[in-house]
Amino acid sequence: MSKFIINGPSTLKGDFVPSGAKNAALKMIAASLLTKDKVILENCPDITDVHSLISLMESLGAKTNFQNNILEIDPSGVNKFRPDDDVAKKIRASIVLVGPLLARFNKAQIAHPGGCLIGNRPLDAHMDVFRQYGIKINYKDKYYSFSTPILTGAKTFPCLSVTATENAIMTAVLAKGESTIYAAAAEPEIKDLILILRSMGARIRGAGTHNISIEGVKKLSGTRFRIMPDRIEIGTIICASLATGSEITIHDFREKDMGNFIYKLESLGAKFKIENSKLTVLKSKLNSGRIDTRTYPGFSTDLQSPTAVLLTQAGGVSRIFETLFENRFNFIAELNRMGAKIKQINDYVIEIDGPTKLKGANIESSDLRAGAALVIAGLIAEGKTVINNIDIFERGYEKWENKLSKLGVNIIKEK
Ligand code: UD1
Repeated sequence: MSKFIINGPSTLKGDFVPSGAKNAALKMIAASLLTKDKVILENCPDITDVHSLISLMESLGAKTNFQNNILEIDPSGVNKFRPDDDVAKKIRASIVLVGPLLARFNKAQIAHPGGCLIGNRPLDAHMDVFRQYGIKINYKDKYYSFSTPILTGAKTFPCLSVTATENAIMTAVLAKGESTIYAAAAEPEIKDLILILRSMGARIRGAGTHNISIEGVKKLSGTRFRIMPDRIEIGTIICASLATGSEITIHDFREKDMGNFIYKLESLGAKFKIENSKLTVLKSKLNSGRIDTRTYPGFSTDLQSPTAVLLTQAGGVSRIFETLFENRFNFIAELNRMGAKIKQINDYVIEIDGPTKLKGANIESSDLRAGAALVIAGLIAEGKTVINNIDIFERGYEKWENKLSKLGVNIIKEK
C-alpha cells in the first residue's frame, strides 16, 4: 500500500490542469462494446478505476493500448459475456458493462459489483430498468445472469440513478424501436456519454435533461472522442486552494458543468475569477453555512468530503446534510485527530465548528472521496502528515503527487 507524506502547511501557487473525468471514462470504455470498430478515447485519466475497466474489457476479449492518456480499444474480438469475477467485484462501475453486453449478445453475466464502502448502494434501479426492457434476471451464487431473446425499446425509469440511467441508454441504442427514459439522471458525464454515442451513430435526444428519447439503430461505428474534464477533481483542488488561502488557476474549466458548487462556495465568501475556460481561486475569508448534497445540478455528494475539510477553516458552525449515501463521513475521526471539531449528529448530518488549526498526523484513507478530504487536510496541517492507503484515493485522482508538487507542495509518495 502506498502513502503520501506531506509537510505543511502548504501554500499552492500556479496552474492546475485537470484530468479527464473518471465517471465519464468508465462508461465510455463500456460503450466501446456497442461497436466492432476501434474506439479512441483522448484525455482518458490514468487512474486505477480506468485500469480495472480495461482489464474487464480484456477479460471479454477486447484489445487495448493505453499511452499518454489516449486509450485505444479494439472490441472486434469480444467473444465473452461475463467479465472477470474478481475485478468486477472490486469496482461498482462494472455494472455499466451489462447494458452494452446485452446489446451485443442479448445476454450478460456479472459478479455482484463492489466499490467504495459508502453505504448500501443497492442495484434495484438497474434491475428495474433491465426488467422494463423485458430482460430476464437470475441471481445465483453472488452473480447475476441477464437474457432476452430480442432486445426491444421500452419506457424505463432509472429514478435519477447515474449508472442506471447510463445502462438504460446503452441498452436502448441498438434495441429495436423507440425507448424513452423518464426520471433520467442529468449529470454532465451522462451528457458526455450521449455525445460519444451520437458520434458513433446513435440517435438520442434530450441530452442533459430528465427525459431522454432514443431511436434504436442497427449498428454503431467506431469513434475518436475527447473526454470532458473531471469536475470532481476540479472541485477538490478548488477546496484545497481555498482551505490553504492560496491563489491558483485551473484550466479546462467549464462553469456549466459544476452545478451549484461555485455559487454555493461564493455564498460562503469564496472569490473566483472566471475568464474563458479558466478559473482563478482568489484568497477568500470563508463563513460557515449549510450544504445539502443533491443530484445534479445540486451539490455533488462526491464533493461533500473536500467541502467538509474546507469548512473546518470557515468561521462559525456549519452543517452538512448528506442526502444520497448513508456512510459518507468516514473521514471525520481522522480529521478530529488532526484538531478539527466535527460532530456527527446522525448517519446523514455533521456539524463543523471552525476555524480550527490542523496539525500533522498519521492517518488512513478509507474510501476514494474520504481520501481526497485527508489530502486537503494534509495541505492545511502544520507539520508532517502521512496518509496511508493512498491507493484508494488513486482510484479517481491521477498522479496528484506530481500535480501538487508543481503547485509548490512538499509531498512525496512512498510505496
Ligand atoms: C455515480 C458516481 C458516483 C456518485 C454517484 C452520485 C460513477 C461511476 N459513480 O454512482 O461517483 O457519487 O453517482 O452522484 O458514475 N440507488 C438506489 N438503487 C439503485 C441505484 C442507486 O437506491 O439501484 C440510490 C443510491 O443508494 C444513492 C442514489 O440512488 O442514494 C444515487 O446513486 P447512483 O446515482 O446510482 O450512484 P452511482 O451511479 O452508483
